[in-house]
Amino acid sequence: MDWLEKIDKNNVPQHVAIIMDGNGRWARKQGEERIFGHFNGVEAVRASLKAARNIGVKFLTLYAFSTENWNRPTQEVNALMDLLVKTIVKELEELDNNGVRLRAIGDMSKLPEDCHSELQHAMAQTALNTEVELILALSYSSRWEIEEAIRQMITEGVAANDVNSDTVSRYLQTADFPDPELMIRTSGEQRISNFLLWQLAYSELYFTDVLWPDFNEAEFYKAICDYQSRERRFGKTSEQIIV
Ligand code: IPE
Ligand code: IPE
Ligand code: MG
Repeated sequence: MDWLEKIDKNNVPQHVAIIMDGNGRWARKQGEERIFGHFNGVEAVRASLKAARNIGVKFLTLYAFSTENWNRPTQEVNALMDLLVKTIVKELEELDNNGVRLRAIGDMSKLPEDCHSELQHAMAQTALNTEVELILALSYSSRWEIEEAIRQMITEGVAANDVNSDTVSRYLQTADFPDPELMIRTSGEQRISNFLLWQLAYSELYFTDVLWPDFNEAEFYKAICDYQSRERRFGKTSEQIIV
């Protein structure tokens, strides 16, 4: 099936968010260490970004490391951080040449120093690019993000009457981005795992059994086709949508 051909170019989501899950299981299936799955997951990131650019998605958010992932074995955490630094260094020129602007959401202060500085460098170098924004959720959890937003609002003395949906959105890490129209999760798990709880309020959710390292361009297009078959109602009736 040529999924790309089936995509309606006039109904492409602006923002796609992905929970990249299943690296560990992918590796174990081949009798390898979990980290082998993380290494192989990088190719799926490249493929997703390529597919997103190809059809004109403007924001691609990838959940790369959650706040809760810090509780994994130290060896795995270190290997993931190491992979992150190396991947940023290795891919930076290509990202830049392709007009990709790199962004990050999450508690960057928790990242190891080299990770933090390479990320800052890459974000600064790509800051003027406008083709697509690649947003990495790193040391991110939605509850942490909401706590931070509330702390900040209180610190700045925001008046109770001024608190509404727009104000809250402005204090979140995602203030610069529209809400995702589509959220994809790989590996068969059907949960949100503390990802963009506020922003996913009206997103279409797409779950696939494909493990992250096996996710590719065709799988991305397939998810977009599925999204395009949905009727987004935002609380209205079907009849109101058709009119
Ligand atoms: C997703 O794959 C990557 C991260 C959470 C960093 P997992 O490592 O969660 O793989 P599974 O879910 O154990 O297979
Ligand atoms: C969610 O995956 C976090 C990332 C993909 C970075 P997890 O594998 O950590 O989530 P749970 O533990 O299965 O909910
Ligand atoms: Mg997992």
